Amino acid sequence: MAKKRHEEVVLPEGEFDQEITILIGQLSQEPGSLLRCLQRIQEHFGYVPESGIPVIARLCNVSKAETFGVLTYYSDLVTEPPAQVTVRLCAAEACQAVGSRELESEWESLCAGELVGESVATKEVFCLGNCALGPAAMVNSELLGRATARKIESLVSSIVGGS
Ligand code: FES
Repeated sequence: MAKKRHEEVVLPEGEFDQEITILIGQLSQEPGSLLRCLQRIQEHFGYVPESGIPVIARLCNVSKAETFGVLTYYSDLVTEPPAQVTVRLCAAEACQAVGSRELESEWESLCAGELVGESVATKEVFCLGNCALGPAAMVNSELLGRATARKIESLVSSIVGGS
C-alpha cells in the first residue's frame, strides 16, 4: 500500500518480491542487465509492478531512481496491468478521409456509455495496413475494415464475454 510522508512518496511494500527474485536473480548478476530484467518481468506479469522497483534495484545493484528512470523511459515497458481488450483506431490520412475521426467520437461515446467497468483501452495508431478498407480498427489482434462503433463493440463484447 502506497504511503505519503512529508511529500515523499514511499513505494508500496513489494508484494511480488519473491517472484521477481526468482525471475531475475541470475540475470541481474550480469553487468548492465537492468533493461533485460525489466523486460523479463514484463513478459511474466504483463507489466512491471512499481512495487518491485526496490527489489529490482537491489538485485541489479543500481539505484531505485535509475530503475525508475529506465522503466519510465522505454515506452514498451508499462507499470499497470494491460487492459483485457485493446482497441486501436487508425488516425492516419487515408482513414481520416473516410471518417476515422467520426468513428473515434462514436466509439468513445459508446465505450463510455456501455462498456464502463470493462477493461478496455483505446489507442490511436497511424496506419494498420488496411487503408483500402478504412476506417480501420484493430481489437486485440483482430483487424476490422470499414469499422463502425457497433462492429467494434460486438467484437469487444465477444472477447469480454468469452473470457
Ligand atoms: S491509413 Fe488507416 S489503415 Fe492505413
